[in-house]
Amino acid sequence: MKAIILLGAPGAGKGTLAEGVRTATEYIHISTGDMLRTAVKAGTPTGLEAKSYMEAGELVPDEVILRIVGERLAQGNPDDKYMFDGFPRTLEQARALDATLEKLSAAVNQVFLLEVPTPVIVSRLSGRRICKGCGAVYHVTNIPPKVADVCDQCGGALYQRPDDSEETVLNRLEVYERQTASLIDFYDRKGVLVRVNAGTTPQEATAEMLSKLA
Ligand code: AP5
Repeated sequence: MKAIILLGAPGAGKGTLAEGVRTATEYIHISTGDMLRTAVKAGTPTGLEAKSYMEAGELVPDEVILRIVGERLAQGNPDDKYMFDGFPRTLEQARALDATLEKLSAAVNQVFLLEVPTPVIVSRLSGRRICKGCGAVYHVTNIPPKVADVCDQCGGALYQRPDDSEETVLNRLEVYERQTASLIDFYDRKGVLVRVNAGTTPQEATAEMLSKLA
């Protein structure tokens, strides 16, 4: 089993980069944010538990996250290659992931830190639009659909994520600094941190990450 992690602030482009890497490699994309949004939409007990935290831009409790990731990994195969996006986000989650991988004789192979200036991040999140039908991600000016508010891929309507309002974005950035940024040092000490300049175009950032993928 192989495991790589995309680490970076909200809006750094983790999901966009993951899509580029997924299509060019055999990595399986695991986004805890996407898993939680699916659970909220379906109204499952996990979704009901997560909803208020997500709307406020706070982290969902570790035990909920570790349960859904554990359930997902239990469905996998020993030679799967996983690309985690938005997980881990706390030291407790990182240590739990290490323990899970150790039981499978695996370890985190590389952690890609997506570096983007904060003003760029705020503009990316305020302009983000997502397809209701297939989940494709656009940006009103950076990556616009051919027809305004209509998905190029499936013709679905585009919407703005509720946690992309200005007030919630600012809280998510604070939460990142307070609870997640310490993971940079955690993985740097392990010698697996790889820095990627993600303030460039999606194509350039994807090419840089692919060139650094071991
Ligand atoms: P999650 O869905 O993980 O959100 P996030 O980390 O805040 O990241 P985003 O999805 O907002 O941004 P992204 O980095 O993927 O950027 P994107 O590619 O979309 O989590 C949401 C919530 O769920 C959390 O707040 C929390 O409540 C909960 N949660 C999830 N995981 C959790 C965990 N492990 N523990 C606890 N709670 C958890 O790009 C953003 C925009 O920029 C898009 O419009 C895109 O088109 C554009 N863009 C991207 N790249 C570029 C580029 N290179 N150039 C120009 N534009 C670009």
